[in-house]
Amino acid sequence: MTTNEAPSRFSKVPRHVAIIMDGNGRWAQERGLPRMAGHRAGTENLRTIIRAIAKLGIEYLTLYAFSTENWSRPKTEIAGLMHILSEVIDREIEELHAEGARLIHIGHLDGLSSTLQNKVRAAIELTRHNQRINIVLAFNYGGRDEIIHAIKRMLVERVNPDDVDETLVSHYMFTAEIPDPDLVIRTSGEQRTSNFLTWQTVYSEWIFPKVYWPDFNEEELQKAVDEYARRDRRFGGLKEA
Ligand code: FPP
Repeated sequence: MTTNEAPSRFSKVPRHVAIIMDGNGRWAQERGLPRMAGHRAGTENLRTIIRAIAKLGIEYLTLYAFSTENWSRPKTEIAGLMHILSEVIDREIEELHAEGARLIHIGHLDGLSSTLQNKVRAAIELTRHNQRINIVLAFNYGGRDEIIHAIKRMLVERVNPDDVDETLVSHYMFTAEIPDPDLVIRTSGEQRTSNFLTWQTVYSEWIFPKVYWPDFNEEELQKAVDEYARRDRRFGGLKEA
């Protein structure tokens, strides 16, 4: 069975919520603070949102924390985001582990310092048997890059062209073991997909709350989940029977 055929296909509670945490910079700018203050406030917000997501019984939460395009940002901001990832793991992983969270990474770990790579790998290993909630960290991730990576692997493995179908391609994605997102939330009012889960989101419901990520609280999450429940998902077919 392809994991993309989520059993909750028409369920009112999303099984997988993916978030583009946008607006940290503008949040900081509006307060006369440096951009990193926005990223820090956004990081603090993650605690609230992860707990709220787990409480709602959502099984997968994907967080777009660093895209393949983010390398074009100033060096200090890149270093700051790397530092945040390192700090978050040091500070939070034991508690997340105790609460039954499993950490999964999608994207390329190479490109990060070897210390940070080891830290992420250790956190993945520590939490790999947990089942309460899966936190999928998209870090050094790009949707097109993922597709290119999948094609290259298929070519290297000399996959027979007759065997190539959606199920097979899905198996070559970083998300092979992860159901497609039911709901994608992009905060800050921007309405773009920005290279996020390009293959996986073709039938996702997208919601664009106006608030900046640091202000996206439990109430905003509930609003998004309620809006999702009102949507009529047809997956290209007719109305559900
Ligand atoms: C987009 O806002 C946000 C990011 C590129 C980084 C998101 C990172 C965090 C919330 C920190 C958590 C990170 C980890 C690793 C757990 P923006 O900077 O593009 O905002 P702007 O559009 O207002 O400038």
